[in-house]
Amino acid sequence: PHPDAWRRVDAYLTDTLVGHDDALDAAVHAQNAAGLPAIEVSPVSGKLLNLLARISGARRVLEIGTLGAYSTIWLARGIPDDGHVVTIEAEPAIAAIARQNVDNAGVGAKVEIRIGRGEHVLPTLEQPIRDGAIAPFDLVFIDADKESNTVYLDWAARLGRPGTVVVVDNIGRGGEVANPATTASHVIGTQRGLEMLARDPRFDATALQTLDLKGWDGVAIAIVTDAAATAGG
Ligand code: DHB
Ligand code: MG
Repeated sequence: PHPDAWRRVDAYLTDTLVGHDDALDAAVHAQNAAGLPAIEVSPVSGKLLNLLARISGARRVLEIGTLGAYSTIWLARGIPDDGHVVTIEAEPAIAAIARQNVDNAGVGAKVEIRIGRGEHVLPTLEQPIRDGAIAPFDLVFIDADKESNTVYLDWAARLGRPGTVVVVDNIGRGGEVANPATTASHVIGTQRGLEMLARDPRFDATALQTLDLKGWDGVAIAIVTDAAATAGG
């Protein structure tokens, strides 16, 4: 096959199974127009998040790393009308764009954007969120600064319950994840997160490499185990 054949395959799979969507296209356009990096998940990965929410019957979703809310919209579409997505964004100006995008997509009522760094916002989610809706979250999507992945995983277990689905984005990084001599802090953070998923009894996990319009990367998928119920915290 042609060395770029995977690009055609990704376009084919996106056209065939995911389709195109004005609200999602507009969200990406607004994000790009604001000068934000084009690092939202690919359409096939967005659909994967949507399907995982539906397969797991999720009603409460936690997202760490909002950016332009592209993945937020996919997740919000995968939960019932009375469900909630709490999404954490460190930058107020980015959160404002995300707010417009989720409202424009018609899912604004389901989405609460918490502004601040994850390490500061996550402890506050042990308190009631809105309308009496509180943790545990049914699905957690981790897609923020990779250096903090172990911190975010710890909070995913604490704010989740046995059975909670945990998804970690960007676990391949063009193959760098398998380089034990890497000095890149984001790769080291990714490796530490994967090692935690392997060793921490609160998780059981696998990961898949992905090759799509975002390049060569990957996604880890985990379940929170019964050990989380007895771990305290
Ligand atoms: C980067 C971060 C992401 O979450 C992503 O999906 C792609 C790239 C980055 O920091 O480069
Ligand atoms: Mg990402």
